[in-house]
Amino acid sequence: MRTSALLSFVLALVFGAITPTNAQETKSELVAAGHDFALKICAKCHEVATDQGSAPIMQPPAPSLPVIVARPDITEASLRSFLANPHGDTRRNSNMPSFLLSDFQIKQIIAYLFSVKGNKNLRD
Ligand code: HEC
Repeated sequence: MRTSALLSFVLALVFGAITPTNAQETKSELVAAGHDFALKICAKCHEVATDQGSAPIMQPPAPSLPVIVARPDITEASLRSFLANPHGDTRRNSNMPSFLLSDFQIKQIIAYLFSVKGNKNLRD
């Protein structure tokens, strides 16, 4: 019994870890994963959510991400291109440091950011 409980736990960890590649991921799962990812990565420099907890370590912080995505020039496609091409022209002309993200992370972050687009509770 203990062995099977342990096995279930290990399987949950393994399958939990590969969830991002699961094509069945629903919209709300994508949003939740993107929220989690934004808090872990983007929140070091940007305000990303009302439940952020602590201020970005970058001071002054980079602009709030929900406010950025509400800009008329930002679309899902332009954001995907910005994030997927850390050495592309748009990124080179921005002050954001270059770092690589996986496609599944970009998909999650875009789902989350567009779900909170224009949240007025966040600073711009
Ligand atoms: C190490 C700090 C840092 C991290 C981490 C970071 N950013 Fe940025 N980001 C910046 C800075 C600095 C800018 C430029 C702000 C400016 O131009 O005033 C920026 C700008 C942006 C822009 C605006 C681009 C434009 O067209 O103006 C977007 C979109 C963006 N970041 C998304 C993200 C996302 C999504 C994450 C998490 C995956 C993230 N950033 C993580 C520092 C960071």
